[in-house]
Amino acid sequence: MPTENINKVAVIGAGTMGAQISMVCALAGYSVVLQDVSADSLENGKGILEEQMMKRVKKGRLTSEKVSEAFNLIQFTTSLEDLKEVDFVVEAIVEKLDIKRDLFAKLDQITPKHAILATNSSTIVSSKLADATNRPEQVCNVHFFNPALVMELVEVVRGPHTSTETAETAMEFVKSINKYPVLLNKEISGFVANRILGKLMDEAVYLLENGIASHEDIDIVCKKALNHPIGPFALMDLTGLDVNYLVRMQRYQESGDERDKPSKIVKEKVEKGELGRKTGKGFYTYENTPAKV
Ligand SMILES: NC(=O)c1ccc[n+]([C@@H]2O[C@H](COP(=O)([O-])OP(=O)(O)OC[C@H]3O[C@@H](n4cnc5c(N)ncnc54)[C@H](O)[C@@H]3O)[C@@H](O)[C@H]2O)c1
Repeated sequence: MPTENINKVAVIGAGTMGAQISMVCALAGYSVVLQDVSADSLENGKGILEEQMMKRVKKGRLTSEKVSEAFNLIQFTTSLEDLKEVDFVVEAIVEKLDIKRDLFAKLDQITPKHAILATNSSTIVSSKLADATNRPEQVCNVHFFNPALVMELVEVVRGPHTSTETAETAMEFVKSINKYPVLLNKEISGFVANRILGKLMDEAVYLLENGIASHEDIDIVCKKALNHPIGPFALMDLTGLDVNYLVRMQRYQESGDERDKPSKIVKEKVEKGELGRKTGKGFYTYENTPAKV
């Protein structure tokens, strides 16, 4: 399907990712249906977008006309029935396979036959969802990064079921919303960016656990020697040590490989409730202002 034929986009889930993805699409001129089962999530997502857009207007990055145009293009709804005319769907709901499969089966019934159904999941490859539909060749991963309004890269992942036409359309669609797509020709858990990041974090934890250097110094090395904008420990604090723990547990359950288990230090911190910025303590301690690292 050429991107000229994509007029209406649906984003499912108005949480951290979905709300911003809907605005990215609207700013690029698409009509968007942003659907969520929770009216509160929609309200909250809209409020956050309004704040973020206001900041951009104040900084002169966007005009208030452009912002109101974009908001006018977004339909906020709790009803899947509003997806009857959409051409491209980005699913960004809770990271639970059974709930996503149930949604994909419904999307297959409700959306037009030509519509592409893409998932923004960080860990679930689309072959786990494709067979819940009657159009597996039109299912793929389209993985945005947080915050989606800012981060330029999007990983488009082709499963064995995904047609070349779908992969090409997804790539073109990502370009049309002013993002930079990269195509992964085969499915792999974690995709590219998070796999590389995972290895970096593993090595950082190894160096810490073996007493080679403190977490502060390992972060400083990554920033000053490798030019990373943030060190691995500060980043774990930012994303949440519980997230790191759960991702590793899921990987361990899939592989059965002891090396995939969460590290000792992360496990200890999670057990103590030291989850990072969200609890005020992780590798660093946070008061009102973020720790300088
Ligand atoms: N948070 C991140 O940094 C990040 C980055 C990239 C990808 N992702 C992926 O994006 C997806 C969403 O993550 P998030 O962080 O935005 O989650 P979130 O918890 O912030 O939002 C999920 C939203 O989905 C809604 N929802 C739940 N079930 C639904 C259903 N059946 N139909 C419609 N809406 C439903 C919830 O009400 C909630 O508003 C996940 O698959 C995650 O792996 C997250």
